[in-house]
Amino acid sequence: MPVIDDATITVAIDAALAAIAAAPDTAALKQVRIEHVGDHSVLTAANRAIKDLPKDQKAAAGKLIGQGKGRVQKELAARQNELAAAEEEAALAAETVDVTLPTDLRSRGATHPLTTLQDRINDFFVGIGWEIAEGPEIESAWLNFDALNADAEHPSRSLQDTLYVAPENSGMLLRTQTSPVQIRAMIERGAPLYIACPGTVYRADEIDATHSPMFHQVEGLAIDKDLTMANLVGTLDAFAAHLFGGQPITRLRPNHFPFTEPSAEMDFRCFNCDARLGVEHDADPNCRVCGGTGWIEMGGCGMVHPSVLRAAGVDPEEYQGFAFGLGIERLLMLRNGVSDMRDMVEGDVRFSQHYGTEI
Ligand code: DAH
Repeated sequence: MPVIDDATITVAIDAALAAIAAAPDTAALKQVRIEHVGDHSVLTAANRAIKDLPKDQKAAAGKLIGQGKGRVQKELAARQNELAAAEEEAALAAETVDVTLPTDLRSRGATHPLTTLQDRINDFFVGIGWEIAEGPEIESAWLNFDALNADAEHPSRSLQDTLYVAPENSGMLLRTQTSPVQIRAMIERGAPLYIACPGTVYRADEIDATHSPMFHQVEGLAIDKDLTMANLVGTLDAFAAHLFGGQPITRLRPNHFPFTEPSAEMDFRCFNCDARLGVEHDADPNCRVCGGTGWIEMGGCGMVHPSVLRAAGVDPEEYQGFAFGLGIERLLMLRNGVSDMRDMVEGDVRFSQHYGTEI
């Protein structure tokens, strides 16, 4: 049976008060409460023992223990408030976000839509088993013009069209087309050959909504035995379907290029008027893509001229081929509704972000 005398109770109460004062946080205070006023504490045991005391001692013992426990409970509550308030303040301080601090948030970049489109074009050619070929942007006049059968007086050679590399008569220029890569590839690899040549080209143009002195083209070239224009049209149809979806139709109109014979201008049936195009339907007269014609001009094509094959060391008696070339900026403008060429070259990342970043 626990001792209920003044000294024992006073010691227990003092110990409890000291422990309360020393508790550093609410978790420690919880332990103090269990230890000093919990079921197994000296004070609780003493309280339980009151009932077994002689009658005349019960009142005095009850008062002693009751008052003592009351003091302890009061101190516990006060300390609990104090510690909880301090803990909350510390938590708030720790979680404070200083919105005025300088940040290191660099804005995210985005893939330029021309790059995305070029990748998509490359995917098509790789998908049909062709290889991607590249050449230099500073090119010899021989590869850019002569080997491609452009005669010495061809207007595209003039300073108004072509950017030549100094010194005068260096014979070097900024390539005006990706077609010289055809010649390089034929010389290096011979026939048969199936290649796509994407790349940057240059012309002496002022920049405006539809022109830029630097732009991009992609060139297709197939050299093999028994290739005909039917192979060309089939390839273009598949290419158009890859770019625009649906079942596009390719239309060829007679034209002239020095490096192809016969040569043609290639048009794709307008993808935007698609829903209306059919047996009894015409193009939308207000179509923003084709302007109501139902056709989009895509670029040039034709059967590779025998002189070009000969210049590149391929025997035209044995091999034939077809080629085509188109501008990627123009394709992006039509396909994705870019209305001003300058947006593509200014380098504002918001322009690229608008077109999303395909991964
Ligand atoms: N090189 C031509 C141009 O820049 C485009 C072109 C037309 C490429 C016909 C070809 C082709 O391969 O067969 O306008």
